[in-house]
Amino acid sequence: MSNNATIHESRLFVDGAFVDASDGSTFDTLNPATGDLLATVAHATGADVVRAVAAARRAQPAWEQMGIGDRTRVLRKTAELIVRDAEALAQLESADAGKPISDCRAQILATAEWFDFFADISAHLRSDVIPTFSNHLNYTLRQPIGVVGVITPWNYPMPLYGIKLPAALAVGNAVVLKPAEQTPLTALALARLVQEAGLPDGVLNVVTGLGETSGASLVDSDVDMVSFTGSTDVGRQIAARAGQRLIKVTLELGGKSPSIVFADSDLDMAADGALFTFCVHQGQLCSAGTRLLVEASIRDEFVGKLVDKAEALRVGDPLDETTQLGAVMSHEQMTRIERYVGLGIEQGARALTGAGRASVAGLEEGLFYKPTIFEDVQTDMTIAQEEIFGPVLSVLPFTNEAEAITLANDVLYGLAAGIWTRDLGRAHRFAQQVEAGIVYVNTMNLLTPWSPYGGWKQSGLGIEGGIEQAASFTRLKTVWLNLGPDVPKL
Ligand code: NAI
Ligand code: MG
Repeated sequence: MSNNATIHESRLFVDGAFVDASDGSTFDTLNPATGDLLATVAHATGADVVRAVAAARRAQPAWEQMGIGDRTRVLRKTAELIVRDAEALAQLESADAGKPISDCRAQILATAEWFDFFADISAHLRSDVIPTFSNHLNYTLRQPIGVVGVITPWNYPMPLYGIKLPAALAVGNAVVLKPAEQTPLTALALARLVQEAGLPDGVLNVVTGLGETSGASLVDSDVDMVSFTGSTDVGRQIAARAGQRLIKVTLELGGKSPSIVFADSDLDMAADGALFTFCVHQGQLCSAGTRLLVEASIRDEFVGKLVDKAEALRVGDPLDETTQLGAVMSHEQMTRIERYVGLGIEQGARALTGAGRASVAGLEEGLFYKPTIFEDVQTDMTIAQEEIFGPVLSVLPFTNEAEAITLANDVLYGLAAGIWTRDLGRAHRFAQQVEAGIVYVNTMNLLTPWSPYGGWKQSGLGIEGGIEQAASFTRLKTVWLNLGPDVPKL
């Protein structure tokens, strides 16, 4: 096996113990760079999910009542342990997800930062005193929602645990996590770490398994909220199911984000940014900038630069420190990319580079794809409208700012948007007019735990990051207190 990852755990984590599935069933997780079987993992049955939710329900009140200082210490300690074990976690994540080891190292440290940021967030989540009648006091309380079901995808496993778990836990919720079936291993490694950090049994449970079975059981269980990241299709299904029980959902879904390059921008910088945003993690990023809107006067020059840079990228073994593009997640994902590229060609777009698998010496069974750039794309073509989730870029020229905005907004999604210009006024106009939850000016794909973001349109519902996210894991209660002596009388 061409990886150094050590698998520590492959069973469910329920009520503080690692256990097999109740019916003994399992599923396989593969290393997409080698095609090797990495681990056989417990597949949570509906009964296992119910047990995990019940454990969370029992554990939640004591966790809430533990007090902010004690909860802070546990989450801070978890952050420290993630940093302590960063190299092992990075190796495990790289093997399970096929992503470059250098990216994984950075992402594990980022995960620790999210735990650190949210550790004491309850201390900052102030309530309000609301002006009212002089003989009354009216104030709000923020209280935990209860048990939160968290369902995550495979593209950024650890960072997504960082994005979702500490915010939910810090404000006093208990959590049942269903990680993606393609990448379940770091979630189980993290379960060990929270236990070592002193998280009481049952406050975090991890139920590994498939989406249609374990994931669907979690949505239909007795959870009080579902926090989901993944495809728009599944997001819609989850919201519909949650709607039956009127429980809260937050959804972070797909995207088809534009990078908009004006002739007045620093073209080299813009080319680096435009390349990064469609190629990072092999394009398997919700906020990937997969539509390049370029001012017609510089189109040839700019696209030429981009093609040169794309062809110079090193696609290779994720464990090689110099690799920039690792493996695509799965055969399913590869098939999807190939289908979309085929559709692009069929509908009349022209591939300037890529449009095929990359071969990596020694990894003949690995799933690698060449960065692909399409010209002659019309905005209504499938490749310009739908999320591909691979390193595939559609180039669309524009002649003026109004046309750029129209094109930018001409999709169902609204996650991120990047603009490259030296004109400050234009940058701000664009930030106001674009239909997207995150706007980047002369940069792309930045994210910190303290900056809130969320998708517009079909890209999501609700906010992640920042104090806003912590608040979204609470229920607001309004309290009216009569200072006397009069009461309302009939
Ligand atoms: P998916 O949406 O099916 O999977 C995401 C998570 O949802 C996984 O944990 C999965 O087990 C779970 N899930 C699936 N069906 C479920 C159900 N019926 N009930 C409850 N949970 C369920 O995404 P998939 O199939 O892995 O990828 C397909 C496409 O989705 C990608 O090609 C990409 O376009 C998009 N996607 C977007 C992501 C984002 O970051 N917004 C992340 C992953 C995928
Ligand atoms: Mg799926």
